[in-house]
Amino acid sequence: HSVGIVGAPFWKGQPRAGVELGPDLIRNAGLVDKLKGQGCTVKDYGNVTFEEVTNDEPINGVRRPRAVGRANEKLSNVVARVKRDGHTCVMLGGDHSLAIGSIHGHASCRGELSVLWVDAHADINTPLTSPTGNVHGQPMSYLIHELHSKIPAIADFSWITPCVWAKDLVYIGLRDVDPGEHFILKNLNIKMFSMTDVDRLGIAKVMEQTCDYLFSKGKKPIHLSYDIDALDPSVSPATGTPVRGGLTYREGIYITEVINQTGLLSAVDMVEVNPKRGSCDAEIDSTVTAAVDLLQSCFGRVREGTHPPDYQVP
Ligand code: ARG
Ligand code: MN
Ligand code: MN
Repeated sequence: HSVGIVGAPFWKGQPRAGVELGPDLIRNAGLVDKLKGQGCTVKDYGNVTFEEVTNDEPINGVRRPRAVGRANEKLSNVVARVKRDGHTCVMLGGDHSLAIGSIHGHASCRGELSVLWVDAHADINTPLTSPTGNVHGQPMSYLIHELHSKIPAIADFSWITPCVWAKDLVYIGLRDVDPGEHFILKNLNIKMFSMTDVDRLGIAKVMEQTCDYLFSKGKKPIHLSYDIDALDPSVSPATGTPVRGGLTYREGIYITEVINQTGLLSAVDMVEVNPKRGSCDAEIDSTVTAAVDLLQSCFGRVREGTHPPDYQVP
């Protein structure tokens, strides 16, 4: 694997400070060396820098629209460059509003994508269905072709062209979905595996059905957007919007192992790690370690272990 890492220390898609510390925390936990140690080529593109925006009053209920719109436009261009350079792109957030730029930039280079969204939340509110106005609860709404007519004009979002079809999106881990989001999921017939489905089927069948479903729509590059709050808060407590009853560590890792096995993984987001939401070092460590472990599994780490082909027992 050739991996290109982009840090996006940005928090303005939600109100809680600290999530901008995610990229450097995940790096400091040894991400680059660990990926190299399992045989990956790694290029770290560093952190994207975002301009200060003052006077960023809400538009159509959307909070901090100028900062969020411009940050994502910049991220989109960086992700497109990482993809043009031939890497699988790893975007370290930051909050989940950054999926707008990450997916848009990915699609601008690779065309139609399959998107696997692993999250407690669907993050598909439109500005007008959002109960909070926080863009981290809205990114998919800007990217789905079928929702384009429902998105009101926001100047700094006008560069966004929808690039994902509803049929090419699958959710895993949902357990906190707003009414407007639930309507959209049902109305557009979007494939989803809520935690109830994970309970009923088990994660192995969920992944089998996820792959069967996505491949039945044509094999496309996979964009995996992984919100750390998909995992249970007992595993990843240091996040802004934790929800009880999430994926176990093993279920979370199994998802990434299967996606690696498809050979189609083209970009990954790892978002919503927020050390300021952890109540002690152990909680922060557990959350950051989980993020690193998930990324290692995306790029071929297997739990059974490995050995070099020429290995001899001494
Ligand atoms: N659904 C809620 C909202 O629209 C919460 C979204 C949480 N999103 C996240 N990326 N953690 O504000
Ligand atoms: Mn979430
Ligand atoms: Mn999310």
